[in-house]
Amino acid sequence: MTKLIYHGHSCVEIKHNEHTIFIDPFIEGNPLSDLKVGEVKCDFIILTHGHDDHFGNTLEIAKKNNALVIAMVELSDYLYSKDIKTHGMNLGGSFNFPFGKVKLTLAHHSSSLPGGVYTGAPSGVLLTLGEKNIYHAGDTALFYDMKLLGEMCRIDYALLPIGDNFTMGIDDAVKAAEFLNAGTIIPIHYNTFDVIRADPNEFKRKIESVGKKCLVLKAGETVDV
Ligand code: NI
Ligand code: MN
Repeated sequence: MTKLIYHGHSCVEIKHNEHTIFIDPFIEGNPLSDLKVGEVKCDFIILTHGHDDHFGNTLEIAKKNNALVIAMVELSDYLYSKDIKTHGMNLGGSFNFPFGKVKLTLAHHSSSLPGGVYTGAPSGVLLTLGEKNIYHAGDTALFYDMKLLGEMCRIDYALLPIGDNFTMGIDDAVKAAEFLNAGTIIPIHYNTFDVIRADPNEFKRKIESVGKKCLVLKAGETVDV
């Protein structure tokens, strides 16, 4: 059993068998979030990069749940210094965790914590859970190597930023979906702040016009993967 629950911005919860994995748990300060930090339960957290709208409430949630945080090695080292259980990785590397496989993929963006702590390169995340592959692009520009990801892995679900300004906008994300050849596309990283306003229905129309499926999720909405 695998369920994907969207929590606004780039925050995604994945339940797979007895495990709960949070990607980019930005909850406090996220106007789209349907969660309360104190109520989050998970055993794993995966971070795409150090920016506050992704790192979010990682420290508090990881401590409270004794969760393992999987992230780029520099970001992981920072968390380790805060007494968090971590597993550091780097771009292109995969590792089998109790819930499934994680591969950190390229992302063309930047990464640091508020205050300027260096947190390595940003990444995307390719998750293999049973037979299904889920790609969370993190924050990124469009790049041609997404085609390689799609060639080497059948991506069932691709979560792609569409908000523009800091990441791909709608048209670049449509091209990304074509490169990835993903089964179903879920837009993320939009409408959280004024500067990343984007119409997910325009994105859906454009995705459908290239013959692909698009799911626009509300915060709190669940998909059976
Ligand atoms: Ni960012
Ligand atoms: Mn961001």
